[in-house]
Amino acid sequence: MSHHRQALKQYEGIQAGEKMNCKPIGFFDSGVGGISVLKTAYKLMPNENYIYYGDNLNAPYGEKSEEQIKALSLEAGAFLFSKGVKAIVIACNTATSTSVYMMRDKYSIPVISMEPAVKPALCAVKDGRILVLATPATVSQERYLSLLNKLKAGERVVSVGCGGLVELIEQGRIDETNVHAYLDRKLGHLRGERIGAVVLGCTHYAFAEKEIKSFIDKTYHTDCPVFDGRHGTVRQLKSVLLQNGLECTRNSRGSVTFYSSDKSISSQHFKQLFDGFNG
Ligand code: DGL
Repeated sequence: MSHHRQALKQYEGIQAGEKMNCKPIGFFDSGVGGISVLKTAYKLMPNENYIYYGDNLNAPYGEKSEEQIKALSLEAGAFLFSKGVKAIVIACNTATSTSVYMMRDKYSIPVISMEPAVKPALCAVKDGRILVLATPATVSQERYLSLLNKLKAGERVVSVGCGGLVELIEQGRIDETNVHAYLDRKLGHLRGERIGAVVLGCTHYAFAEKEIKSFIDKTYHTDCPVFDGRHGTVRQLKSVLLQNGLECTRNSRGSVTFYSSDKSISSQHFKQLFDGFNG
């Protein structure tokens, strides 16, 4: 083989390797919630390329049947797969609890998922009850109930299915007045309890973390730590990429591309949320 041909082959090899490693990572959620997970990933791995798919047209997932959530998750996965992603992050606790096994069966690429951060909360906080806020679907799913069982959570964990909260967040109505009024209605039965920690068991809630925390602090007279599974998910994503030789090794910043099933939502809307979120 001529020197030139050899050099070219080597070049092509590098190109192919780079292409493989710098294929995008696909994220999906029922709407804007997963942008909180995406931003956390971007902060940890800014050189990766990302694709985000928000299924806003069908949000909220948390008040749908298991069969409906499975069908929508499959559609979202198929969309990301068609974009040539090297891994899929289910940036949604609700879709994880119904669909993660099915998606892992279907795709040969890594599928990373979410889990309400009950374990870290139980380990870190010994005093008071752990309040888990999640969608009605998540808290009633077998996957979540067996997590509580495995952790022997018993009376220490109180789970509340927060129907309606995702809608407030999707509509951007997350000022203190709205969120506090919502939680006041929803958590009325827990007055007088000792709350030691809050777990945000839905990726949307990260956008209202400040307002949720201020409500809990005010109502339960605490300085309540807040736990969110997105940090664990993103660490898991990084280690899975490394284990599989899938990390993008280039030094420059990657790109983030947004898609929504709702054509009336502009990618600019997602980008603003992404830029404004602290990760
Ligand atoms: N963001 C999703 C979650 O983490 C679900 C929100 C919804 O559509 O109900 O559970």
